[in-house]
Amino acid sequence: MSNDPLLQPYQLKHLTLRNRIIVTSHEPAYPEDGMPKGRYRAYTVERAKGGVAMTMTAGSAAVSKDSPPVFNNLLAYKDEIVPWIREMTDAVHEEGAAIMIQLTHLGRRTRWDKGDWLPVVAPSHHREAAHRAFPKKLEDWDIARIIKDFADAAERMKAGGMDGVELEAYGHLIDQFNSPLTNELDGPYGGSLDNRLRFCLDVFKAMRERVGDDFILGVRYTADECLPGGTGKAEGLEISRRLKESGLIDYLNVIRGHIDTDPGLTDVIPIQGMASAPHLDFAGDVRAATKFPTFHAAKIQDVATARHAIATGKVDMIGMTRAHMTDPHILRKIIEKREDDIRPCVGANYCLDRIYQGGLAFCIHNAATGREETMPHVIPKAEVRRKVVIVGAGPAGLEAARVSAERGHDVVIFEAANNAGGQIRLTAQSERRREMIGIIDWRMSQCEKLGVTFHFNTWADAETITAEKPDVVIIATGGLPHTDVLSKGNELVVSSWDIISGDVKPGTNVLVYDDAGDHAGLQAAEFIAKAGGKVEIMTPDRSFAPEVMAMNLVPYMRSLQTLDTTFTVTYRLEAAEKSGNQIIAHVGSDYGGVSRQRTVDQIVVNHGTIPLDDLYFELKPGSSNLGEVSYNDLVAGAPQTVQRNPDGTYQLFRIGDAVAARNTHAAIYDALRLAKDL
Ligand SMILES: Cc1cc2nc3c(=O)[nH]c(=O)nc-3n(C[C@H](O)[C@H](O)[C@H](O)COP(=O)(O)O)c2cc1C
Ligand code: SF4
Repeated sequence: MSNDPLLQPYQLKHLTLRNRIIVTSHEPAYPEDGMPKGRYRAYTVERAKGGVAMTMTAGSAAVSKDSPPVFNNLLAYKDEIVPWIREMTDAVHEEGAAIMIQLTHLGRRTRWDKGDWLPVVAPSHHREAAHRAFPKKLEDWDIARIIKDFADAAERMKAGGMDGVELEAYGHLIDQFNSPLTNELDGPYGGSLDNRLRFCLDVFKAMRERVGDDFILGVRYTADECLPGGTGKAEGLEISRRLKESGLIDYLNVIRGHIDTDPGLTDVIPIQGMASAPHLDFAGDVRAATKFPTFHAAKIQDVATARHAIATGKVDMIGMTRAHMTDPHILRKIIEKREDDIRPCVGANYCLDRIYQGGLAFCIHNAATGREETMPHVIPKAEVRRKVVIVGAGPAGLEAARVSAERGHDVVIFEAANNAGGQIRLTAQSERRREMIGIIDWRMSQCEKLGVTFHFNTWADAETITAEKPDVVIIATGGLPHTDVLSKGNELVVSSWDIISGDVKPGTNVLVYDDAGDHAGLQAAEFIAKAGGKVEIMTPDRSFAPEVMAMNLVPYMRSLQTLDTTFTVTYRLEAAEKSGNQIIAHVGSDYGGVSRQRTVDQIVVNHGTIPLDDLYFELKPGSSNLGEVSYNDLVAGAPQTVQRNPDGTYQLFRIGDAVAARNTHAAIYDALRLAKDL
């Protein structure tokens, strides 16, 4: 037996966990009609197949109707959920993993205009900044009703075959009771710590009575809100001890911080550029103080850090949640001594930011995650070996190369630059976003292992390609900045890429005109402001940088606000003209009736890219499909069979920004879904 600390089994009451790594509860927003149907089940089972000890599913499944599903949560208050849960638990158990579910009442962390339009409730009228609902202050009958709802839901989960239930306390109703900042009740549930904790313990009592002793119950709670006047560390440790001493629960799952604002949430679940494992020592303090089974997750992205967490006894079970969204087969690779093959989570938080915008959680660089019903995590071999020639070694080209090589094809890739990475290499110029290069490095090392041939510093033309005698050609040449957006003076502006790459020196008084709203605009602004320039970011949109999304915006704001950047929304840059060594920016508005001027020494435009597609059009006449893609086949997961030119000698496709400016995930998804059927 291995002596790797991560591979040691753990006895949680009657439940034997096969190793020390868990996926902590998270809601990927995959439910259909509030039920865990095919997509949800396939996603969950994939992690069990990959070897994780326990998958804790359903972040925040709702126990009550007045806990509306603000990020498409599971509806644990419906009896019809039981057979869906049963299908999922049976499939996970068959793979040798344990499975628990997280139940919650969101309290004020939701909105009344979702679900049944019932008023949001909390132990005070204070609203949560992130979700904005002004809550009704709970009455006695609300409290009794919700306690019963928790017990009913726990019983449903046991009937569905779950190994246990975790209560999501932090930021949700239970911690809203626990915290003096959000509990303004009189009577038995407000005031002293005894009273504030009463709700949590009453819920556990009601659940324990219903599910009996041979069922795991645990709690995910904040043991330090890190807010003035809130639950501090001393009170948090006291809460931890009391939870243990209640005898009602089997483990503690420790959180440090608060989630009522985007910055608070981002400190609890840190993104790229932020410290690794920032709350692990704190979780260790809770374990030392309670001597009770302790779980924890927060930016433990790599196996070495996870191993350290277990080996040093900081926690009993370590969560690698986003890491498993990026690579569901971490354990299998540890066991097979292939840790180098683990696809790294780069902390991009595309997954989380999407759910807060009402989308499904997708991983920025694993397009199979959440699409397990149609996209493979392990690529099957093709029956016939083909010659695949790819142009461009950005994320799309490298993914196409990796997947084609996994299929067993002979793969050649041409790249004009002297290294791989494309736009990601530019992104990684920002110190804070350096982890993004993991998307490229992992693919490069996989391609090298799989024998892909690389030709760098090579500007491939049609002749270069046809000389390879390809069966398939994939154009992944990306795009170039598109700055022709003004009615006059386009020659006076520079692009966000010019600034990020260092090709153009930052100005001292700069207008960044950003109507793409993605990272490049803010990155350029930050480069300029850090170099000492005065920056105004202007957009015609209602809000700036909408594509960056909530948690990703936090580090930018922390930086740009201290650098005194100005943000101007709903104004459009229309034209620019030279005036001595200055530029006059003419500004209007889509709303009409406004004409303003700014005098600056530099205008930076961020307006996406124009496809670099000359080679594609050059190669089109010689192809058998004349570049046509059958979208029906692509979406159905069938091979491409379009034949439009009997004289064509190769199939031709283009992917990523070479088609139209999109994002890294779209580029990688284009590549995976095309190449998996080649
Ligand atoms: C898409 C997504 C949804 C999440 N939803 C929940 C949730 O509902 N409840 C919860 O306790 N944690 C939730 N989390 C937080 C994770 O359980 C975990 O604590 C967090 O991702 C930090 O761990 P990691 O760095 O290993 O990913 C969510 C995380 C993600 C990525
Ligand atoms: S989107 Fe980013 S943070 Fe989320 S799982 Fe993927 S790599 Fe990790």
